[in-house]
Amino acid sequence: SAADLARAESLIAIVPDFPTPGINFRDITPLLADADAFRAVIDGLLAPFEGTYDVVAGIEARGFLLAAAAAVAGHAGLVPIRKAGKLPRPAASVDYALEYATATIEMHDDIAPGTRVLLIDDVLATGGTIAAAQGLVERLGGTVAGTAVLLELTALGGRALTGDVHALFTV
Ligand code: PRP
Ligand code: MG
Repeated sequence: SAADLARAESLIAIVPDFPTPGINFRDITPLLADADAFRAVIDGLLAPFEGTYDVVAGIEARGFLLAAAAAVAGHAGLVPIRKAGKLPRPAASVDYALEYATATIEMHDDIAPGTRVLLIDDVLATGGTIAAAQGLVERLGGTVAGTAVLLELTALGGRALTGDVHALFTV
């Protein structure tokens, strides 16, 4: 319900100066620890995409917490997108930019050509992570059916890299 979603949003804690001074970290763990709030956000993430996806892909690490629950709730399989070196059969990898470095994510080729993939992560910030994940899915022959996040940090303009994203909450 709208009330459950509003309560869920109120359970995202702001932690000043984490991980570095000046950063207001958005901590979703109090939300995840609340059964009704967790259920409400999973339903909210899936709502616009009913009937449009075959699998849910989640991005390590925090994206896994939401994507696995969403896959079960949406009666879909789960495909993990992992940081480099963690998967035993990486079929493709994509590099993306961080503030002062680059990172790499990888995926197995466990999706048939044309599989419709709903991509889920916790936060859209600069968009680098999600854009890389979208590219990975397409490199492996999948179709990005949609992209959903719990929280979008709008000031960072991530949509310039990602295109349309369903953001449950925005700051
Ligand atoms: C965080 C967050 C998103 C990403 C968003 O992941 O979970 O995945 O940053 O940032 P961007 O839009 O600027 O790419 P991070 O890899 O820092 O940590 P995690 O392993 O805990 O998910
Ligand atoms: Mg992450």
